[in-house]
Amino acid sequence: MNKRILSIANFIDINDKLIDVGCDHGYLGIYLIQNNLVSDILLTDISQSALNVAINNINKSHLNIKTLVTDGLNNIDLNKYNTISISGMGTTSIIKILNKLKNNNTINKLVIQSNNDLKLLREEIIKLGYYLDDEITLKENDIFYVICKFIKGNKKLSNDEIKFGLLKKDKIPYYNYLISQNNKILSLLPKDNIKDKQKLESEIIILNKLLEESR
Ligand SMILES: C[S@@+](CC[C@H](N)C(=O)[O-])C[C@H]1O[C@@H](n2cnc3c(N)ncnc32)[C@H](O)[C@@H]1O
Repeated sequence: MNKRILSIANFIDINDKLIDVGCDHGYLGIYLIQNNLVSDILLTDISQSALNVAINNINKSHLNIKTLVTDGLNNIDLNKYNTISISGMGTTSIIKILNKLKNNNTINKLVIQSNNDLKLLREEIIKLGYYLDDEITLKENDIFYVICKFIKGNKKLSNDEIKFGLLKKDKIPYYNYLISQNNKILSLLPKDNIKDKQKLESEIIILNKLLEESR
């Protein structure tokens, strides 16, 4: 099992009744059921062919796991579940799916790994009435992943936390990576692009501060 899926599984508890939206291969669900780590689970995907791969993997593992072809949270009785995981999609798709949670009272945990724009992800999920409880940051195949756990409720984040997430020791390589990315872009910016230059430089100052504080 890859590190990214294991880290997502790390945020799932035995009492969770989980919907894994966009399960594709189904590895997360298979791992959770094989190891008795979840109370109930539904694996969904918008694509029948993706779900067929999951069904094939479930059968090969001699397991019994519910699956459903559907777009996001459509056609699912949310009252039967308390947790949602979405991983490997972009923030816009994730938010579009989660917007269905407006007026929902049963889903109290979201485990999300977005492929892009984590600032927007945090902002939008907070607007839906969840707070950022924890994050795991990892590097796999030269790509950094941040797995976010949101819990129903209110807790304010600082501007730095909205932008770069919770201050954690496992983020040190990630902060260093972001600094090097900003430096790379800075070196390619035209001299007269003062606005972007200032933005990138002020981000580097914040990231260096976070590095200091996380050590
Ligand atoms: C890159 S895969 C990620 C698979 C797995 N969650 C992971 O993290 O390895 C994204 C999956 O999301 C599915 N997907 C995309 N949009 C979706 C939607 N609106 N509802 C359900 N599934 C969706 C795709 O068909 C695809 O199988």
